[in-house]
Amino acid sequence: MSADGPGLRVVSGMRPTGRLHLGHYHGALRNWTELQHRHECYFFVADWHALTTHYEDAGRIPEHAWDMLVDWLACGLSPNAAVLFLQSQVRAHAELHLLLSMATPISWLERVPSYKDMRAQSDRDLSTYGFLGYPLLQAADVLAYRAQLVPVGEDQAAHVELIREVARRFNHIYGAEEGFPARAEELIDKLGAKFAKSFRECRRKFRERGEYQQLEVAQELLNNQPGLPARDRERLRGYLEGDCRMILPEPQELLTPAARVPGTDGRKMSKSYGNALELRDEPDVLRKKLQGMTTDPARRRRNDPGDPEKCPVWDLHRLHSDESVRAWAEQGCRSAGIGCTDCKARLLDGLREELRPIQERARTYLADRAELQAVLYAGCERAREAAQDTLEEVRDSMGLRYA
Ligand code: TRP
Ligand code: SF4
Repeated sequence: MSADGPGLRVVSGMRPTGRLHLGHYHGALRNWTELQHRHECYFFVADWHALTTHYEDAGRIPEHAWDMLVDWLACGLSPNAAVLFLQSQVRAHAELHLLLSMATPISWLERVPSYKDMRAQSDRDLSTYGFLGYPLLQAADVLAYRAQLVPVGEDQAAHVELIREVARRFNHIYGAEEGFPARAEELIDKLGAKFAKSFRECRRKFRERGEYQQLEVAQELLNNQPGLPARDRERLRGYLEGDCRMILPEPQELLTPAARVPGTDGRKMSKSYGNALELRDEPDVLRKKLQGMTTDPARRRRNDPGDPEKCPVWDLHRLHSDESVRAWAEQGCRSAGIGCTDCKARLLDGLREELRPIQERARTYLADRAELQAVLYAGCERAREAAQDTLEEVRDSMGLRYA
């Protein structure tokens, strides 16, 4: 499948860490605000995920969630374009997590690269069941919506790989049927000669020649059969690629182009390092933070020429200053024509300009908790509805049908 066709389902989440900083903005949010206009997007506050590591100091999670939502909206995420919701208010994620856990080997979770590292490095006790299950909860987040795309950073790519493995295994175990190919063929015939001809051709081209784009064409054919029951849709979807019903489609990661966003000490910007420039920082705060920001160590005195490539301030210029300012800074730095104080002052101008509308919108939302709640409640409701179909199918496939 091409990774970025129109109108696909997109799911992503962010842990509630409170006010967002420039790292979040360049690493995810800017990308989300674009995606929301091209795809059917579900973006959620991953509050359960926060509990997998911060179960002992859970009290601040709601405040962090509200703050994050404010910043999402301030940056241009819109409840009219995307579904914005809170993970813990859509219980389908938890139910699907439980059901998926039945058939997920523990070893798959233990070998997720971040698992051992985080457990070893964290100063918290992460030898819990919840923390081990973290990537599986993430699988449920995505699979509940049968999303095709998951926008994430490089660090999460292994998690999306795991989601695919979980989906594949689930389909093999619960989507297998006696006489599957014959059933599928019969179904194809039932949908009319024209459909049958096109669909079989797609399948043949995909299977014999590996033409991935045929999957999209076939999907389109299926979309044009609105009356087709979910089960039959899964049969045909599965028949294209394999030999079982495709109850949970395998999603692809959509890697956010990596931007280097250094914090004031030159390390990666992160709240836990205390080096972050927050989207809602007032100009005075920004000025102070920038004043203390690391520069090219070679410029110890005003007359020492510098190298922007060795300076984190320059990385921020690249993200926030226009071409003429960048040319000015680069030239001035290399020739010692400007001092770091001048350089930072111009960066501050650009940053302030860019953050002003964001901060104005943030103020509006901060002053109106009721509006925020309304956005979230409506989003949760839409998410619950969207996840419902999948959950019914999953329960059914696992034999949990008592009606
Ligand atoms: N694990 C992600 C993070 O820490 C957040 C997350 C939770 C997520 N569920 C998700 C991302 C589902 C994408 C899809 O950044
Ligand atoms: Fe960095 Fe600018 Fe100073 Fe050069 S002049 S070292 S780019 S802050």
